[in-house]
Amino acid sequence: MVKIRIENKWISREKMMNIAIIGAGFIAGVHAKSILASGNYIHTVISNIPSQAAEFAAFFNAKEWKTDYKTIDINSIDCVHICTEPSLHYEMICFFADKNVPIICEKPLTLKADEAEKLDGMIREKEVPVCLCFNNRFYPAVQEMRRKIAENELGAPIMLYGSYEQSFHIPPVMNSWRFDADGGNDLRAVSEIGSHLIDLIQFVTGENIVRVSAKFKNRTEKLYLNGEGQLTEDRTDKEFVLKNEDTAIVMFELEGGALASMCLSEISAGKVNELRLNIICKDGRADWSNDLPDRLNIAVKGGDDSSVTLGMQTGFSDSYINMFSEFYKFVNSGGFASDMENNFAVVSDACKNVSVCRAILKSAENDGTFMGV
Ligand SMILES: NC(=O)c1ccc[n+]([C@@H]2O[C@H](COP(=O)([O-])OP(=O)(O)OC[C@H]3O[C@@H](n4cnc5c(N)ncnc54)[C@H](O)[C@@H]3O)[C@@H](O)[C@H]2O)c1
Repeated sequence: MVKIRIENKWISREKMMNIAIIGAGFIAGVHAKSILASGNYIHTVISNIPSQAAEFAAFFNAKEWKTDYKTIDINSIDCVHICTEPSLHYEMICFFADKNVPIICEKPLTLKADEAEKLDGMIREKEVPVCLCFNNRFYPAVQEMRRKIAENELGAPIMLYGSYEQSFHIPPVMNSWRFDADGGNDLRAVSEIGSHLIDLIQFVTGENIVRVSAKFKNRTEKLYLNGEGQLTEDRTDKEFVLKNEDTAIVMFELEGGALASMCLSEISAGKVNELRLNIICKDGRADWSNDLPDRLNIAVKGGDDSSVTLGMQTGFSDSYINMFSEFYKFVNSGGFASDMENNFAVVSDACKNVSVCRAILKSAENDGTFMGV
């Protein structure tokens, strides 16, 4: 076994993993950097756009590139990373699970609840190792928050509130699958950034969300599509009706009785990627933000406020390195046969996440009426 120390964390590698990455867009680049940083090798790159696949493969020193994932030589890879738009996740997971290839798939698992449920059943039956990229679980401060709740150091959770704000969808913005409601992406803020907070609320408390109430609000009803494929506010371009949400406010009930809320925005000026979570418990409170990712603020009833630093300037890519390292270790130690305690999200977690997202949409379509999950 090879062991190296990256910042303050020991990363072990029993065997170099040969990886195939499907997709060569934004998140595929983060995967590629993190695969290499965790001491593993990118064997094959697949993108439907040949020039993109070739450039990505050359940049990350991959052995080969292809345009069709079905042509990957599965005997030469140890794990496949699915980094495409969510509408393609289902068919790709089915294809590789059927061949018993370990899978790391980007969130959300799917856009449809029935597809998520089919995958959940299939993976349970076949016992193929699958990790869903809810990478925020892999900040040391988030794991410490979870431990404190699990060990009852703060008492029972009473109320949680969080927010996730990005500025990416302030026009002008490139039109993409994210705005393609007719192609199945009938959610945007909720499935893209909200799914992370939904996962964190359930991960940190260890409790399922059972009911939701949601309202959506857009900055404007329409934008205009120009010849370069950008959505703008220039009325001389072709009208483009926004059919999914820029922002959302959601209220949750957890199975243990705690309440939670989240505010989401894809149109927050000045916020590139800010995620915050606060938890108020019977005997204390804790909060965390990815802008100060190593810092966990804690206060205990009758005691002092404290702030602990748990990492060494942990960044977005580090959360991916930590997640991949844990998953590869799980695969190498026998996958389902291993008794490793894992932090990574599995298909059943991601399936519940899809159900919560679908219930949120249903509630928003019904003027915020509470919906069961
Ligand atoms: N965990 C996070 O924080 C995070 C952040 C951003 C995106 N994501 C997720 O990652 C996924 C991709 O997002 P993105 O921002 O990288 O999108 P993107 O549009 O930048 O990239 C998608 C890539 O998939 C490729 N592709 C499309 N169809 C394909 C096919 N049939 N075969 C092979 N390649 C194909 C495209 O050419 C492109 O390279 C989404 O599920 C998204 O929600 C997660």
